[in-house]
Amino acid sequence: MKERIKQLLDEVSRMTATNTEELEALRIKYLSKKGEISQLFNDFRNVANEDKREVGQLLNQLKNAAQAQINTLKERFANQQETAQHTDLTRTAEPVKLGTRHPLSLVREEIIDIFGRIGFTVAEGPEIEDDWHVFSALNFPPEHPARDMQDTFFVERHANDVLLRTHTSSVQVRTMLRQQPPIRMVFPGRVYRNEAISYRAHCFFHQVEGLYVDKNVSFADLKQALLYFAKEMFGTETEIRLRPSYFPFTEPSAEMDISCLICGGKGCPFCKHTGWVEILGCGMVDPNVLRNCGIDPDVYSGYAFGMGVERIANLKYQVKDLRMFSENDVRFLEQFEAAY
Ligand code: DAH
Repeated sequence: MKERIKQLLDEVSRMTATNTEELEALRIKYLSKKGEISQLFNDFRNVANEDKREVGQLLNQLKNAAQAQINTLKERFANQQETAQHTDLTRTAEPVKLGTRHPLSLVREEIIDIFGRIGFTVAEGPEIEDDWHVFSALNFPPEHPARDMQDTFFVERHANDVLLRTHTSSVQVRTMLRQQPPIRMVFPGRVYRNEAISYRAHCFFHQVEGLYVDKNVSFADLKQALLYFAKEMFGTETEIRLRPSYFPFTEPSAEMDISCLICGGKGCPFCKHTGWVEILGCGMVDPNVLRNCGIDPDVYSGYAFGMGVERIANLKYQVKDLRMFSENDVRFLEQFEAAY
């Protein structure tokens, strides 16, 4: 009997199964009522009294070993089943989430793209400028209020003040100084103004400036380019309206409105019931500006325009509070799917 027990001990320790059915067969073979180990327990009563103690211990050892081995195998199958349930290897991979672009970047790229299609290239200029490039060269008289402390952030005050540019028109100046016409360019960039921060004003914002200088450039060319832009940006049903205005660097000057996107021109709170919303300033480059930049106004003429990127973004996305653009709240930013 001892021999048989030892043999079974050996067998049991090497017991394996490849699935739960095989495992159940093993359990029946060894541990069920009619199983081999149970049989040995039945035979135990025939063991000689003096051997009972030793054989009894061996028998218990065998029974425990068999049970332990079966439990281990059972656990292994349970784990395998669990992983099989949780990983479906045939499933397509999770798509990698792409980042989103900032709404102001999206709008800036779209503006550049629209003008790019009619031959405008892109240039940038410095944000820290001097009085001459931001004001004097652009025909601002010395006492013009834009130069005032209330509007401009000054870095250094002396004869040619160093300051943060208040508009991207300064890049017009730098471009004309550098190259002779034809010039057909847009200048995107950040500008700074000393404003109290609120839902509708910030101390910095973004503009895209446009400049076209060549022979025989007329106001009709300007109007056509802007009409094209409005329709590309806001949809083909968009209408434009030019109102006379004043800027030191353009003559004549105008402000452009587009028909309100929200009410389609019927009048609503967004357009203050006028049916129109202002989106940019524009005009024919003042001959003084051309002259200041080394371009002969008797040979060349040009048009210029400047628009606020935040304003266009607000029209497109109806962002109620300007501050959202610079707070970097991902709940806001995640909503802008990258088209560019
Ligand atoms: N520089 C103007 C501003 O910051 C915008 C502007 C108006 C630009 C008319 C122009 C222009 O080029 O022709 O408000």
